[in-house]
Amino acid sequence: MHKDTIGTVMITQEQILAKAEEIGSQIEKDYAGEEIVLVGILRGAVLWMADIMKNINLDMTIDFMACSSYGAATKSSGVVKINKDLDTDLNGKHVIIVEDIVDSGVTLNYLKGYFESRGAKSIKICALLDKPEGRRVEIDVDYVGFEVDDRFIVGYGLDFNQKYRNLPYITWLEE
Ligand code: IMP
Ligand code: MG
Repeated sequence: MHKDTIGTVMITQEQILAKAEEIGSQIEKDYAGEEIVLVGILRGAVLWMADIMKNINLDMTIDFMACSSYGAATKSSGVVKINKDLDTDLNGKHVIIVEDIVDSGVTLNYLKGYFESRGAKSIKICALLDKPEGRRVEIDVDYVGFEVDDRFIVGYGLDFNQKYRNLPYITWLEE
């Protein structure tokens, strides 16, 4: 069916849903009594965003941004381009960025600076996956679903050349 070779199931949907519940409750505690804005980074974060938001019982709004640092390659170019900007005024707001994976850290580092410049009161990061070996800039990831080793991950929103986002589990692409 696919012309790329993908691995076996690395993280199941059940594991992801359980983790979303856990992180959702933590966020509820951390922001008790506050209003928050969840900003999902398109397109990779769509499934994780949906899982996280339904597990947070707080006053909140959501928005999405699309940016790319990758093009069609499997290594980050280090250049971040905004393809779709926010519609929300972030001035004085508590922002949680919801991202699929933190690799080099370049994208999130850029986005944090960008949201600061838009007046956000606080900015935290909630990533489904963290690939610490890929890091090129230091970045605090406040809420992490799972750590993965340095392979090219696909599934559950993550793509290779825009494919495999629909897989209901996390796997990897064989070299
Ligand atoms: P960073 O700027 O290098 O941290 O990369 C962030 C973006 O690169 C993520 O939002 C993903 O879209 C993409 N990315 C990084 N690693 C992977 C991977 O293993 N599989 C699929 N996409 C990835
Ligand atoms: Mg992405």
